[in-house]
Amino acid sequence: MGHYVPRPTAGEPPYVIAHRGISAKAPENTLAAFRKAAQVPGIDMIELDVRLSKDNEVIVLHDRTLQRTTTGNGPARWYTVEELKQFDAGSWFHPSFASERIPTLREVLHVVGKQVWVNIEIKSDLFHREEPDSIAQRVLAVVNECDMLHRVLISSFDHSIVASIKRHEPRCITGVLYNMVSNFLLFPSTIAQRVGAHVFVCARHELRSWMLNDAHRHGIAVYVYTLDSVTDALHLMERGVDGILSNCADDLVPILKRSTREST
Ligand code: G3P
Ligand code: MG
Repeated sequence: MGHYVPRPTAGEPPYVIAHRGISAKAPENTLAAFRKAAQVPGIDMIELDVRLSKDNEVIVLHDRTLQRTTTGNGPARWYTVEELKQFDAGSWFHPSFASERIPTLREVLHVVGKQVWVNIEIKSDLFHREEPDSIAQRVLAVVNECDMLHRVLISSFDHSIVASIKRHEPRCITGVLYNMVSNFLLFPSTIAQRVGAHVFVCARHELRSWMLNDAHRHGIAVYVYTLDSVTDALHLMERGVDGILSNCADDLVPILKRSTREST
């Protein structure tokens, strides 16, 4: 697996991206979920969510608070990595995952970074915003330390973070997540190009044909989340999307990749 490019080669199926790992079959955003994804030939990329700990380490966690997916309570930002590591991040999903911990980005890149590309989605919460330059620099530092610059896509709903990534590391490929409220009726190319992004990401119910056409006319890739039904994924593939994020990426791979081979 070589360098990451935003759009698959013409005629090839869309990238299959394991959303928070194989999160339908292992606890989301844990090494168990990422390892499962890395073991499946045909999964191109994993998606994960990052935020900062009290000691400014980049940790992999979706929610601002700990209680949904770990045995901890309150905002993750209040705890150091050492403290966060005490919490069980797997039992909520199934007791057999009790040994799972909140991983750091560094750990994930070390474990699966050579096998799959990684979409790092930077979280910054509306009422608890991170300072864009500071979180961008912390994430880039880990990516560079792990020698992963050419194998990652860095995206965010907070487009000032995306702009900051590009400012600090112009070689990094970035993505903008569509915000139905603040981006309503704006062209994907406008949203992406104003922060130098090459990928436009939206939810499946947000995608319109004019958005897809506009993005492609401007050479912007379009990824869609979260597709767990094979029929829906096949439909999106026919519409020409470039990437499909799924909680059960392992189930989509045999269908999406086979169906293209049969039709060529
Ligand atoms: O990065 C795409 C998708 O993950 C955005 O939504 O809430 O699943 O992080 P969410
Ligand atoms: Mg995400």
